[in-house]
Amino acid sequence: MANSLRVRLLWWLLVPLALYVFVTGKTEYDNARSTANLVQDNQLVASARMIAGEVEWMDGFLRVDVPPAALEIFASPYRDQVFYSVRVDDGRLLAGTPDFPARPAQAPDVPDSYYTELHGEQVRAVDIVRLMYDNGVTRRVRVTVGKTVRSRDAMTRQLWRPQLVRQLEMIALAVALVCIGLTFELRPLMKVKDEVEDRDPMQLEPIRVERLHSELRPIVDAINQCITRLGVQVAAQRRFIADAAHQLRTPLTLLGTQLQFARQQEGLNPALDEALAAMHRSNRSMVGLTNKLLLLAQAEAADSAAAAMESVDLVPLAMEVVEDLALLAQAREIDLGAELHGTAFVHGHRGLLQALIANLAENAIRYTGSGGHVTVAVTADARTVTVSVIDNGPGIPAESRSRVFEPFFRASTDTEGTGLGLAIVREIADAHHGEIALKTGEGGKGVDIGVTFPRAVPK
Ligand SMILES: Nc1ncnc2c1ncn2[C@@H]1O[C@H](COP(=O)(O)OP(=O)(O)O)[C@@H](O)[C@H]1O
Ligand SMILES: [Mg+2]
Repeated sequence: MANSLRVRLLWWLLVPLALYVFVTGKTEYDNARSTANLVQDNQLVASARMIAGEVEWMDGFLRVDVPPAALEIFASPYRDQVFYSVRVDDGRLLAGTPDFPARPAQAPDVPDSYYTELHGEQVRAVDIVRLMYDNGVTRRVRVTVGKTVRSRDAMTRQLWRPQLVRQLEMIALAVALVCIGLTFELRPLMKVKDEVEDRDPMQLEPIRVERLHSELRPIVDAINQCITRLGVQVAAQRRFIADAAHQLRTPLTLLGTQLQFARQQEGLNPALDEALAAMHRSNRSMVGLTNKLLLLAQAEAADSAAAAMESVDLVPLAMEVVEDLALLAQAREIDLGAELHGTAFVHGHRGLLQALIANLAENAIRYTGSGGHVTVAVTADARTVTVSVIDNGPGIPAESRSRVFEPFFRASTDTEGTGLGLAIVREIADAHHGEIALKTGEGGKGVDIGVTFPRAVPK
């Protein structure tokens, strides 16, 4: 989660924004507070001036009549308490509360505002001094008006809150937009992921994604370059196997001829004869193995040689295979039958398709004991063509079925073989978009193996 792009981007956005809101929020709070103070101070000054205006000399004494209007201006729904006092410099209290603390002397007529505490509550207070003359006597009269700060606080809140709320809404909007925007903008990346995820291991085409961001292009390009290099490497390896098998064929053929020549001298030494016969068998199986290796390499390279594909009718092709294997079947006393009617065209390589049918039929003949039946059939429907080989031999044990298509896997080791036959069948089927179905044969005995190809139009 900590490494999610979404979370990281949110951090990049949220931390500076929160800091910004904090700093501006603080400034705005200070501004709102000083505005509220100014408004309240003006009321206090107005009230103090009104009271000061009412101070007068009467019979040589100072006296004051505090007009109700001077206190009514403070009426507010916040139930602020209002205090006032009128004091002469000789210490006499003309009106109001005696509780205001003493203040340093100040110039006349210049209001002085300050905070103080009265009856346990914070109070904002204003002093104003008026000079009173009479018969050569000058008296300083100090009028103080104070008021608790509830309405001032309320005013500050009213000025400040909406701005804070707007800024918090802005942050919430930014967060939502980042989340939504990223979800949309990450879609091409998810497409790349799907493209790579859905591939089978040997699919080596470049990744193609439309409408890719310029920032993502280099990544996809790099992956594609990697795929290309991998493709070159895989092709080189296949070529190497094909070349090696090809190179092996010449000396093996030569060896076969030499062995045949040596065996013409048979009868001189029985031990030598036996050794020669064994060498001849080894030579035959090595020729078989190299041929199969070559075929496997060709089958693996088949999908990249799509240009060499043509429309091939599997009916005569299967017939050729049956004819080729008739002798082998006869030698093993197997009844080799064919169900081949009409036409069944597929798009592919003639030689490889023939090898596929041959490998299946050969397996059936070789693994079914004498007296068995093997049937090669080709059927076609509107969209598909299926070639199947059915026998009534020992069958393939269920636990081996998933592995018989692996190269060099052999379920029965008492017969000669390479373990490459079904691997070749699978490669050829894949190259032709064929599906292999391996089932138990008729009557729960033997093997029924079929390969279904897409049907092609004859050309
Ligand atoms: N028709 C069949 N009946 C019984 N077993 C079979 C049949 N076809 C294939 N198998 C089993 O599958 C294994 C793999 O077959 P394959 O790849 O052709 O190799 P190979 O024939 O060289 O052993 C064989 O060793 C055999 O055990
Ligand atoms: Mg085989």
